This record gives sequence, C-alpha cells and structure tokens, in this order.
Amino acid sequence: MSGRTIEFRIFRFKPGSIDPPRRDVFRLPVEPQTTVLDALEQIRLGRDRTLMYRHSCHHSACGTCACRVNGVERLACTTRVLELGADTLRLDPLSGFAPIGDLAVDMAGFFKDIDPHWSTLRPAGPGAGALLQLEDCIECGICVSACPAAGKHPQFLGPAALAAIGNELEKRPAARRELLAAAGAARGERLCERALACSRRCPTRVYPAAHIERLRRALANEEPS
Ligand code: SF4
Ligand code: FES
Repeated sequence: MSGRTIEFRIFRFKPGSIDPPRRDVFRLPVEPQTTVLDALEQIRLGRDRTLMYRHSCHHSACGTCACRVNGVERLACTTRVLELGADTLRLDPLSGFAPIGDLAVDMAGFFKDIDPHWSTLRPAGPGAGALLQLEDCIECGICVSACPAAGKHPQFLGPAALAAIGNELEKRPAARRELLAAAGAARGERLCERALACSRRCPTRVYPAAHIERLRRALANEEPS
C-alpha cells in the first residue's frame, strides 16, 4: 500500500469561541503506517495549534483517544488511516458525553458509576502512573457512545458500568445482593436494548453485552424478597 492524500473533516466546537460548531477541512498526505492520531498531531503541529483532542499512551492502553471516524467509534491511536479505505474521514467526538472542545469530551459522568473500591480494579499499564483500570476495560467510552439505549436514556448506567458490575459479581459473590440491586435498578440492565453495539465496538474485548446478559439471568433467578 502506498501513501495518499486524505481529506480530514474535523468537528470543531469550543463553547464561547467556536460556537456554533463547524467542520474544518484539512488535506494531508499519509503513509500506510499513519494512524488517525498521527494525522491529528500533524494537523495540530503544522496547521492549527488550537485543535483539541485527547491522547496519552499511543498504544490502546489508556482509552483517551476514542472518537468517531466516519460515524464509527474507534481508538485514534490504533486506527490506520489507509486501512479504512476512504479518501475522506469525518472525525467527531464520542456521542453521549458533554463536549469540552473539538474531539475532547467530559468523561466525568462515565466514571461516577464505577466504584473505585471494587476488587476487580488493578493498576493500569506502564506509563499510566497510579491509575487503576477495570480488568481489560480501558475506560474509553466507546461502548457508551455506540449504545442506542445510552443515547436515549442519559440516566442509563451503560455498558461499561454494567460490565464492571458483572466482573465484580464474578470476583465477589458475597456482594451479590448489593451488586444485583445496582444492576436491577431503574437505571440498570432493563434499559439495555440488546443492540450488542457495545460488544462489537469495544476495542479490548470486554464484551459488555455478555456481562449484561449474565446479570439479567442472575436477576431473573433471584428470589423475590
Ligand atoms: S467496555 Fe470496552 S468499549 Fe466500554 S469503556 Fe471499557 S474498553 Fe471501552
Ligand atoms: S492514546 Fe491511549 S488508547 Fe489511544
């Protein structure tokens, strides 16, 4: 595969400065190894230093670079531009999160439903300092952005938090009552539409939909109190 020039159409929005939102277009020569994150860095360094996006590890460990590429949630750092087979890439922030600027969104709501004391938390990979991560979940938010139920019901716990509850239930059966109460609450698994988008898009194979299904069965088997 040889290099090509690709058009990047990037969502721009900064409350109070780029407002209303617009789309900026940058044409960039890319090589077969160039990732979406490489392209964003080239654009920021060479064309527009105000472009906002998140990144940290550059190797699919931190989850910060997630965005939508031509409408599909992906990690920018591991998505090679030319492998997408498109001459134009539309880059948008994840859906369902409050915008901060351009491709960066506010993830605070995502973390509030995952208890930092759950036993499944373990230190994240090298370069992530003292951060904790949940089993294989890199907390990228891709599953939430892809989930049609999360789009309709902002109060929904969402696939990552339900997967976290499912993980915790496997590791800590003694906490069954408390965990199933969370999963079975009005904000819990009942809002899931079984679209499976979470499992299809998750870059680290957490398979949130499988956890949700197990929680659903566990709830169905509970004795009414
Ligand atoms: S479950 Fe998968 S898609 Fe969802 S936040 Fe975790 S790593 Fe990302
Ligand atoms: S920069 Fe860490 S996952 Fe992409």
